[in-house]
Formats: sequence, C-alpha cells, structure tokens
Amino acid sequence: LKQGTLAALEAAQDRAAWDAVRVGTLGKSGALTGLLKQLGRLDPEERKLRGQALNRLRDELGAAIEARGQALEAEALAARLASEKIDVTMPAPETLLGGIHPISRTVEEMTAIFGAMGFSVAEGPNIESQWHNFSALNTPDHHPARTEHDTFYLPAVGEAAEPRVLRTQTSGVQIRTMLGSKPPIRIIAPGRTYRADHDATHSPMFHQCEGLVIDRNITLGHLKGCLIEFLRVYFDKPNLPVRFRASYFPFTEPSMEVDIGWSKATGEIGGGSDWLEVLGAGMVHPRVLANCGLDPAEWQGFAFGMGIERLAMLKNGIPDLRSFYESDLRWLRHYGFSA
Ligand code: PHE
Repeated sequence: LKQGTLAALEAAQDRAAWDAVRVGTLGKSGALTGLLKQLGRLDPEERKLRGQALNRLRDELGAAIEARGQALEAEALAARLASEKIDVTMPAPETLLGGIHPISRTVEEMTAIFGAMGFSVAEGPNIESQWHNFSALNTPDHHPARTEHDTFYLPAVGEAAEPRVLRTQTSGVQIRTMLGSKPPIRIIAPGRTYRADHDATHSPMFHQCEGLVIDRNITLGHLKGCLIEFLRVYFDKPNLPVRFRASYFPFTEPSMEVDIGWSKATGEIGGGSDWLEVLGAGMVHPRVLANCGLDPAEWQGFAFGMGIERLAMLKNGIPDLRSFYESDLRWLRHYGFSA
C-alpha cells in the first residue's frame, strides 16, 4: 500500500489527481482507512502491533500527501507567475495624442504677448456685412481697395438685403468693438479671413490678427513702441531691427507697413541687411472714429493687422503656406505642440 500510494502521489500532476490519491488512501472509504477499520476484529495482542504499524503508516502517508500537495501548489503558482510576467522592455503600443496646430499655437503666443501689454481678445463673425468689412472702414463703394481684396460675395437674402461677404480682413472687428464698448479700448482680434486667391503664398482662407487701441492722447509713438515690443518678444530677438515705412490703408492715417531685418540669403530673422514686411498699421482715421460715434477731437488710436500664417512660417521655418491646411500628421507632429 505504501509503495503504491507514494508512486501514485508522484504521478499526480494536478490538484484533481492529487485529491484522488488523498481520498483513495485516507478518505472515508480509503484503502488505509479500510485497514484501520479491520483492526477491531483482531485479538488484542495482534491489534496492538498492527495498530501501531498502521498508525505510523498513516502519519507517514499523511505527511507525504501534504508535502505533495504543497509542491503542486507551488508549481501551479510558479507557472501562473511565469505566464503573467510583464516584459517591461517590450515597446508600448502607440497611442495617438492630439497636438496643438501651429496656427492655434501662434495665436496663443500672440495673445500671451499682447495680454501682458493689457490687450484682451475680441471676436467678430466670419460672414460680415459690407458696411462692417468696408464702408465703416472708410472704404466706400467703388473704392479700388474693395476690388483688390478679391472678395467672396454671398447671395443676398431677402429683397432689400445687400449681399454679405466672407470677411476679407479682421478690421471689421475694430468697428464692432468701437460700436459695442466705450473707450479706452485695447483689443486684439485673431480670426479667419477669406480672399479668392490660391497659390503657394495665398490661401482662400487664412488668418489675421487685428489690433486696436483707443484712448485719449494716443500717438504714433505708442504704436511704434507697442509693435517693436511685440515683434522682438515674438521672434525672441531683443535687438531685432524694425522699420516703419509709409504706406496706405483707407482706415488709417498715416498708414505704414512694418518691416523686420532679415537675411534674404539665409532666411535668418534679425540677421543680414534685408527687410521683410510683416504687418500693416496706422493711426485710426478720424472718419472711422466718427463712423463709430467717437469724437476724433477727444479720442485717438492706432490699429494694426498681421497675417498669422506668415508670422508662423517666418518663426518656425515653414516653407509652404498650403501645408497648414493639409492635416498631414507628419507635418503636424513636426510643427505642432504635442498635448
Ligand atoms: N486690414 C489690413 C490688411 O488686411 C491690415 C491693417 C489692419 C492695416 C489695421 C492697418 C491697420 O491688409
């Protein structure tokens, strides 16, 4: 019985086989239990000897069964640990994280810089009345600047309604702000603009950031100081050369275009001896102030406008305007901020 039980224990490879051996030996109708039960039929002398022997066998087999049970359990645990082991050297599955588009990032940068100078952000509709987009900005019907903008006209709604336009500039937000709030005013207005034009440097939809300051005693000096500060911080070049060049916009007088120093040969901003135009600006035209109900004798101001893509391209070395709108993940990863 002993040899047979030990051999069966050895052969038991899982808990069920082991349990069968245990029950078959020590269970209620197990082999050893059966032998113990027969003791009663023996005479006292024989019963004592055989009883001692059987008890020893029971202890021995009980211990062997216990030991085999623990060994099987340890084996099972080891197998489970091995199968559940995590290989920390394996490459993680790729998770796609969103990123911040370079246009949004540039708007955020501009907002932060002008925000530090006390500007808040204003908005206006993309579909704009001709009055807000042109007339109130001192650009009456048949003014040549109207045709220069390659305006998208929308069909007129209703009989009397004048056709509205997709705004060709963010300057209409100047008008809305002056009509909707009292000076002093200090706002920037980043947003989409539209012109029927498409090539490597023009897109039918692009972004501008407008700026407007209205207060008492505002001078050209304020305009220059504000824009020089902005450009030097934006391009992170404390000595960036900035040049103001006389120009024309219907809604500012005087008007100017603003250039920064750069190298035509290398594209380096602030280096070299070439000039690059980056924005338009000027003192708000008295007629524009009057159109918005402000007395030009009391209030003055300056305004500026810049192309967001253009400034993003210059700062980040982005060669082609069209890539902003192609949603090419490789481009976005390269130029976008990951979240
Ligand atoms: N709106 C002008 C443009 O689109 C830019 C500008 C804005 C110029 C404000 C002067 C003042 O070219």
